[in-house]
Amino acid sequence: MNCLFCVMLRLLLLSSQAVDASEYANNKFKYSFTTNSTPVRGTIDRYKKACAASTDAESVSEANTQFYQQEASKFKRQIRDIQNLNRHILGEALSSLSLKELKNLESRLEKGLSRVRSRKHETLFADIEFMQKRSNEGLSRSVLLLFKNSFNTPSILETWINGTVCCEWDGVTCDIISGHVMDLNLSLLNLQGQSYPNRTIFSLSHLQQLDLSSNYFFGDISSTISHLSKLQSLDLSFNSVRMRLDSYTWNKLIQNATNLAELHLGGVDMSFIEDSSMSLLTYLSSSLISFIISQTPN
Ligand SMILES: *[C@@H]1O[C@H](CO)[C@@H](O)[C@H](O)[C@H]1NC(C)=O
Ligand SMILES: *[C@@H]1O[C@H](CO)[C@@H](O)[C@H](O)[C@H]1NC(C)=O
Ligand SMILES: *[C@@H]1O[C@H](CO)[C@@H](O)[C@H](O)[C@H]1NC(C)=O
Ligand SMILES: *[C@@H]1O[C@H](CO)[C@@H](O)[C@H](O)[C@H]1NC(C)=O
Repeated sequence: MNCLFCVMLRLLLLSSQAVDASEYANNKFKYSFTTNSTPVRGTIDRYKKACAASTDAESVSEANTQFYQQEASKFKRQIRDIQNLNRHILGEALSSLSLKELKNLESRLEKGLSRVRSRKHETLFADIEFMQKRSNEGLSRSVLLLFKNSFNTPSILETWINGTVCCEWDGVTCDIISGHVMDLNLSLLNLQGQSYPNRTIFSLSHLQQLDLSSNYFFGDISSTISHLSKLQSLDLSFNSVRMRLDSYTWNKLIQNATNLAELHLGGVDMSFIEDSSMSLLTYLSSSLISFIISQTPN
């Protein structure tokens, strides 16, 4: 029974899929129906029921057949409309359209296009942001690995493993969006060695907190520490008495890291710093909350 209807139904499904595929702006073009809309779904269900019942061919009445023929021709019209709309969207078969219809189509296309463009920009920016984060994270990782490998006992930072995300390493906290390391806390890790003349953690220029306290660092603190211009908290206390901060480095640090709120230098040899350099602290007077230095031997 209803062979015509079967064909029509299949055509309808195919055609609505074709239109779906060409619907490049999500939800932009609304059709008078979709295969999920209730009227069509209802018809399909009714058809399925009829098919199931049609094993008993006699039960299909003449009226039923007529009804399906009507539905079939309705679908035929709808398919034609969809196909036409599809052509119009592609800029084809426009000669049949009036000026008003053309204007209509134009404004729908323009709206659709602007949505496509804004979505494209969003996607592009998200991609760029992601790439930047990956790249920042990768740079930080190599800096931190160099730092780790400069110790004789690298096993001490055992979560710091090449190939893993450095923002998840012990003592490392990153900005979620940019992937820059913001906080490095290496307090109490028994790290031993010269005070980083070649240790590049001072190139992590986004650091806001740096805690190297309670280790065994010694020697002159590298003047490159002044690159940490965003520092809010710096703790170098409880290291070796041979850890030194000279005037030059001090001056550069205080002039650059103007947001310092906590500066803990207990135990650091600052005897090389002249009183006039100490007065540079007035640069920080508005931000400084906590300042601890050692009793420098005279
Ligand atoms: C980390 O791994 C990459 C790729 O495997 C390698 O090129 C790089 O040299 C490694 N970095 C360190 C510090 O070992
Ligand atoms: C660093 O870690 C130590 C011990 O885990 C903690 O006591 C200290 O407050 C931390 N420092 C900062 C600046 O968060
Ligand atoms: C540290 O850097 C200086 C100057 O760049 C270089 O001469 C020296 O060999 C480096 N030391 C180490 C242990 O890499
Ligand atoms: C101050 O900090 C900026 C940003 O990290 C850096 O480029 C510049 O070299 C620093 N200046 C000094 C004197 O260290």
